[in-house]
Amino acid sequence: MAEVITHDLIILGSGLAGLRAAVEASRVSSGRLNIGLVSKVQLMRSHSVCAEGGTAAMMRPEEGDSFELHAWDTIKGSDFLADQDVVDRFVHEMPSEILQLDHWGIPWTRREDGRIAQRPFGGHSFPRAVLASDKTGFFEMQTLYDALLRYSNFTRYDEFFVTSIIVEGGEFRCITGFDIATGKYYALRGKALNVASGGAGTLYGFTTYSQTVTGDGLALAYRAGLPLEDMEFLQFHPTGLVPSGILITEACRGEGGYLVNSKGERFMDKYAPAKMELAPRDVISRSMMTEIEAGRGFKGPGGLDFLHLDLTHLGADKINERLPLIREVCMDFNSLDPISVPIPVRPVAHYSMGGIATNIDGATRVKGIWASGEAGCESLHGANRLGSNSTAECLVWGKITGKECAEHAMKTSGMPDIPQQRVEAERKRVFEDVLKRDGRENPYQLKKELRETMGKLVGVFRTGDELKIAQSKVKELKDRFERVHVKDRSPNYNTNLVHVLELENLLDLAEVLVTGALTRQESRGGHARRDFAARDDEKWLKHTLAYWTPEGPRLEYGKVNISMWKPVERKY
Ligand code: FUM
Repeated sequence: MAEVITHDLIILGSGLAGLRAAVEASRVSSGRLNIGLVSKVQLMRSHSVCAEGGTAAMMRPEEGDSFELHAWDTIKGSDFLADQDVVDRFVHEMPSEILQLDHWGIPWTRREDGRIAQRPFGGHSFPRAVLASDKTGFFEMQTLYDALLRYSNFTRYDEFFVTSIIVEGGEFRCITGFDIATGKYYALRGKALNVASGGAGTLYGFTTYSQTVTGDGLALAYRAGLPLEDMEFLQFHPTGLVPSGILITEACRGEGGYLVNSKGERFMDKYAPAKMELAPRDVISRSMMTEIEAGRGFKGPGGLDFLHLDLTHLGADKINERLPLIREVCMDFNSLDPISVPIPVRPVAHYSMGGIATNIDGATRVKGIWASGEAGCESLHGANRLGSNSTAECLVWGKITGKECAEHAMKTSGMPDIPQQRVEAERKRVFEDVLKRDGRENPYQLKKELRETMGKLVGVFRTGDELKIAQSKVKELKDRFERVHVKDRSPNYNTNLVHVLELENLLDLAEVLVTGALTRQESRGGHARRDFAARDDEKWLKHTLAYWTPEGPRLEYGKVNISMWKPVERKY
């Protein structure tokens, strides 16, 4: 039987969006709401701590930046799939988030004159990434956690694995899950749920994501009947360290680093002469893959051929001051010092542009459920996100959804009834079916095959034929998953069970991503089809919405808000 615990508001995920939501809900309710903050990792191990280069905001109108310019850069960067009302709200909300963090004590990097520093990032036509050295996410997380500690109205559920979101009568009822340390099963019920548990980039083996980010919130929402939006748009960041995939921040190029091929050429002049290394990520990643495929890369281990990111002309002082983490990572993981040696890099799975479909307030289509940060898709990024707009999104929609959830919880009297039979059925599914599976399939082998498939067939460039193969491979893996072997049967710290449940989530998300990509017969932003190489606004200027069915995803399409600029050709 499940132990039932009651909260006014449950926040699933303790990264930037989750913490910002928790602070705002506490503030709005003057600390009166009883909040459950649930994470499958220790709070400060949320993947947001890995964000490096910066957070975009329009801070300097007197120096030539403007809300219009930030909005235009974001919309053009999105290949015109972003909802323009959402972008407009975002750019206007962001500056106060930077100042709010400043007031809460974040050590922003400063200019000589003491004002908050900003640096260039790809696709932005003004240096608008606010930074805390190259550890921006870490300092933002620490500052938000400090801000949350001023309140005492929240309970942390660290290392708690959520297995389902239960919706009944069109309303949120509860989540179910277990304490990883003890294996004890719970139902957490509340008036509101905010899903802020991140994206799904560990579908790929070569990824910047922490291995813990397995798209759980997305998959749980999908299975609970909520549509996932635009999941075919998976961002490849241009510079993953070879061979580990660790993020080498775009700030390296913002600070003046060059991308160079094996002939010693700064090849971006062929692809984006006006922006060079500071073109948007989709453009640079395609250019890099084109260079590598043309044989102008360097041979890398396990097929990970690479190009060089050259910082050697920047000098030791700049690298030590502005990019110390990058230097440390290169020395620790590759035994090379970027002050004197170029860094081996190639495009790497980095970010899910899609997520749980929400409106502009982060509300999903189910009463009582919101989604924020990378897990939510209010359609800020469209087909391609600009660097430094994601930590920014977490702050803005963390705040918005925190307030919305809190207000909903405060005006809702009484707690929802718990559907006991469904809670018990979920317990049986996890502990009497999945945990006891004794087939011949090794879950780690299945995950390896999934990642190989995604890496080889659903990468920077895609074709219909490859996507069809990927689709049938994912179906095969889902079938084999039914015969998986769970070796560890113990209740305590059963990471074997956790990995199997994560794999189940990844398989569902792979199916959604591949189906969306196969169906979308055009190239737009992060989705580049060799067999449909042009953008096709007539047929495809629309959002994909994927609904769970027992046979696989059912796709519908939704309108894009084009309230400011009509789509034009995208050149850099
Ligand atoms: O390159 C980076 O520092 C990554 C930033 C981002 O994804 O926004």
